[in-house]
Amino acid sequence: MILFKTIEALQTHLHKQKNKGYTTGFVPTMGALHHGHLSLIGMSKAKCDITICSIFVNPTQFNDSKDFDKYPITIENDIRLLEQAQCDILFLPSANEIYPQGTTLTSTYDLGFLETILEGKFRPNHFQGVCQVVHTLLDIVAPNKLFLGQKDYQQCMVIQQLIALTGIKTQLIIGATLRETSGLAMSSRNMRLTEEDKKKAEIIYQSLQYINKNINKKGQDELIATVTNSLYNNGFEIVDYVAICDANTLALVTNIDTNTPKVVLIAAFLNGVRLIDNMLLN
Ligand code: PAF
Repeated sequence: MILFKTIEALQTHLHKQKNKGYTTGFVPTMGALHHGHLSLIGMSKAKCDITICSIFVNPTQFNDSKDFDKYPITIENDIRLLEQAQCDILFLPSANEIYPQGTTLTSTYDLGFLETILEGKFRPNHFQGVCQVVHTLLDIVAPNKLFLGQKDYQQCMVIQQLIALTGIKTQLIIGATLRETSGLAMSSRNMRLTEEDKKKAEIIYQSLQYINKNINKKGQDELIATVTNSLYNNGFEIVDYVAICDANTLALVTNIDTNTPKVVLIAAFLNGVRLIDNMLLN
């Protein structure tokens, strides 16, 4: 694996490879890598000639500065995992390389309704920061394909919109959420959970399954109330949302009986760690 810290060195290398006709796949990350990230690297390797991973903890997407300060950094382990996964290139820029003008939010992206709900509502400006950094990274890498995980369902929709808004010629490919055997969705934030917390956090996946099983049997309000209560009873201190939405637009589903594809999404805090997960309903 070749490690690049500057845009110039990365682009010089990529330019040569692209001129040879090689296709490129890109997996942007904030590090603290786990098997979910590695599965995206694997997908990229299967579909593209060259796989580039970036590690950059983007300050502009953290609406809570404490969350940014506590974000796990495990760079040596990340490099080892990427080498094992036979990733071709790691782009590891400094904040100054990505934001030479400073880390303030500059452009505003018209994300419309998507930015007013769920993560957009509970994390003001989060998606503007995500768009800012992903736009910058896509301009630098200009990959044929971009790989993101379904765990960040709304983020995938936002990035699809970013691609449409900017006309960037990159295809977004979404990889399935990887889970521990307990069902807990893999996430860098899990590193901040104790073993006891991880056990408690299993209730999120169980809640998604419960809604999936009962969606045609019980009323939506009842399902959401049951799940919200069980999250609180299992030690979660704040439940931001349990929402059943249209899988294509993320509009809240008002009539559960319609045939529209649906997704259930959860965000809740356990011991100060904010966990999110989702499941497409059958
Ligand atoms: O999903 C993430 O890890 C981040 O939001 C991303 C896409 C790498 C942008 O910083």
